[in-house]
Amino acid sequence: MLYASMLEQAKGILEEEPWYVPALSNLSSLIMNTLSDLNWAGFYLMKNGRLTVGPFQGKPACIHIAPGKGVCGTAAVRDETVVVPDVHQFAGHIACDGASESEIVIPIHADGQLKAVLDIDSPVKNRFSPEDRAGLERLAGLIEEKVNWA
Ligand code: SME
Repeated sequence: MLYASMLEQAKGILEEEPWYVPALSNLSSLIMNTLSDLNWAGFYLMKNGRLTVGPFQGKPACIHIAPGKGVCGTAAVRDETVVVPDVHQFAGHIACDGASESEIVIPIHADGQLKAVLDIDSPVKNRFSPEDRAGLERLAGLIEEKVNWA
């Protein structure tokens, strides 16, 4: 129900203006204001072979993440969703906001290439359930389908 409504709103945002700057900005806000217990929600974009922070909600974050580094760089290299129930148990986790306790990172593609990752942090351990993962992967799929990256 929560995700059905969020995805409906996401569709409206993406259809009104697919350019990635307003679209990903509003989607960050939508995530932050829809899901409970979050302290950071946003996007890192692939630029010159590394992840660079893009539209987000939360405290200022690290700007560049190399492939393989942190949860984001790990999701990028594996090219799959990474769910971390306790960031303190994840070797190499990059602590941008000391309040973060759990995290989910989902890859986003364009033209068959990794284009960005969706990164969401929570101050609560074990925040992201299989239902969250499924709903957020559907959101990533919608972004892949509709965003204009130019
Ligand atoms: N924790 C991330 C870094 C980005 S912040 O969470 C916004 C990581 O380990 O890749």
